[in-house]
Amino acid sequence: MTDSSRDAIERVAAAIAAARSITALTGAGVSAASGIPTFRGEDGLWKNVRAETLATREAFENDPRLVWEWYEWRRTLIRDAQPNAAHHVLAEWTRTRSASLITQNVDGLHERAGAEGLIRLHGSIWHVRCWDRCPAGGEDWRDDRVPIGTLPPRCPHCGGMVRPAVVWFGEPLDEAVLNSARAAAACDVFLTVGTSSVVYPAAGLIPDAKAAGALVVEINPDATGTSHVADVTLRMKADEALTAIHALTP
Ligand code: APR
Repeated sequence: MTDSSRDAIERVAAAIAAARSITALTGAGVSAASGIPTFRGEDGLWKNVRAETLATREAFENDPRLVWEWYEWRRTLIRDAQPNAAHHVLAEWTRTRSASLITQNVDGLHERAGAEGLIRLHGSIWHVRCWDRCPAGGEDWRDDRVPIGTLPPRCPHCGGMVRPAVVWFGEPLDEAVLNSARAAAACDVFLTVGTSSVVYPAAGLIPDAKAAGALVVEINPDATGTSHVADVTLRMKADEALTAIHALTP
């Protein structure tokens, strides 16, 4: 750790200790130390196909089986993974500091670390939905099984296709969920952790927080789409940075 990153960590720890309200926004980088590939990193390819071309309604309409095979590959990876120190520190802050936690991740690792009140912007890879939104299957439901046999899985109510209950490119976010995230962005200390900050409206929460007067802290080994907004930048891995901050936060 450099002297400047040590100074920055001390500054962030002091700000967190003094804050009345803390909010963290997380992205795929938070789960990197758990072995889950990020979307835009070099390991984000699956069968040479980029995530951006699979996570769309069009991709599912064209080849639902291919899209489900990608999700089943990710679900298997995630099922075998464990939350890392970044998930544990953030979860503890939700319990002991009433921190708000907003995630773009669909992997469920924040929940498994015991986070309270998690705001899931992009849904959950463990939930599914009837593609036709048939009346009986109108609500999302949890289904952890990796379906053996034919893909896509079938709706138990109407026999139609089932899709993952995640937000795909071009789809709107749930308005109530987005509103709670925007409300949480108005805080004293806002940490943006492990996200490339190129996908909106999630990335817009970072300038929102800044405009509301928050100290904005970016934790990411690389520059992001909103680095210019950050008051403090920690070019570190999420688990290492959060562990170091936590150790200095009484
Ligand atoms: N610690 C912190 N950050 C890391 C780490 C790490 N160990 N490893 C990688 N990163 C950073 C990368 O530098 C990058 O900025 O994590 C970020 C991951 O960026 P993306 O792959 O773009 O993931 P994310 O920002 O979560 O994507 C947003 O886009 O694909 C859609 O809906 C999907 O929720 C996702 C959204």
